[in-house]
Amino acid sequence: MSNPKGSVLITGANGGLGSAFVSNLVAFPYASSHRGIYTIRDPSCAATLKTVLQNAPKTAHLVDSPTRPQKPSSEHERIVLVSSWSHDAYDSRNDSIAICRGDEYKTLWRDPEALSKGIAYHDNGYKAGMRRYGTSKLLHVMFMYELQRKLSADPALSKISVLSLDPGAMGGTGLLRDSPAFIRLLTRYLLYYLQPIMVLLKPNGIARTPKKPGYDLLLACLDEKYLGEYPKAVYLGGSEKAIPSVEARDDKKQRKLWVESLKLRRLGRDTVLKDL
Ligand SMILES: NC(=O)c1ccc[n+]([C@@H]2O[C@H](COP(=O)([O-])OP(=O)(O)OC[C@H]3O[C@@H](n4cnc5c(N)ncnc54)[C@H](OP(=O)(O)O)[C@@H]3O)[C@@H](O)[C@H]2O)c1
Repeated sequence: MSNPKGSVLITGANGGLGSAFVSNLVAFPYASSHRGIYTIRDPSCAATLKTVLQNAPKTAHLVDSPTRPQKPSSEHERIVLVSSWSHDAYDSRNDSIAICRGDEYKTLWRDPEALSKGIAYHDNGYKAGMRRYGTSKLLHVMFMYELQRKLSADPALSKISVLSLDPGAMGGTGLLRDSPAFIRLLTRYLLYYLQPIMVLLKPNGIARTPKKPGYDLLLACLDEKYLGEYPKAVYLGGSEKAIPSVEARDDKKQRKLWVESLKLRRLGRDTVLKDL
């Protein structure tokens, strides 16, 4: 392709969702007009991605090693962060694993310093780990809002959109590889075989095959019909716009997270982004 319409860069491209995204990207017409840039940590362990790329239609334009994307025009750039309903301590879908049961767990973070060290829980173990995972996803959503505010405030960057996508539960990916055996069995086998039926019955329901959120992620990057040209700080539950948790929408906390993170990183102020 001599003159691609744009580039799509995906991190974790060999993972369950990442490779499902790539298989959607190369299979749909978007692929013939966009350059795919896939980043992985270790090329020698990227068998899944390699298989997807080997089976890609010839029309797909592929870049499988680090390359320099064209200078962004700041016309239609989108940054999509992958989140999860586990960011919301009040979401009833967390009840099945009871990670946020009890008032003490309803606020996922209070102190940025504690975040940087890993929040201590008295019930350390799987549930505490999942809570920390949920907190990391909450931070993604908060980051989306604050980053969007800063980009929108700068005329040179104001056309860049930041989105967050909850892909739903996908059994069979690498996410829970270090979980207790019972959880691994449940997700790798039971959920894995049930999710094709579950996603047919309810496309944005609890369990989804990676292919479905892989496509949702593609839409989050490129769709303009449902999302509009500039979808600013949009949170998606699969293919539908959704509302993240109250804690995630707390703008004072979003600001605090940003400012304290700069301090913890010993960066006095923002670099290219304007201080608000
Ligand atoms: N599976 C679910 O049920 C579920 C539900 C909600 C949200 N999500 C989210 O969906 C996303 C994809 O998860 P997945 O289920 O597809 O898991 P996965 O199969 O484990 O894929 C995760 C990918 O991220 C890469 N990665 C992990 N840590 C990294 C780091 N520090 N630097 C660079 N790359 C790193 C891994 O790279 P390597 O291949 O090098 O290990 C892997 O390719 C994650 O953000 C996850 O939190 C998943």
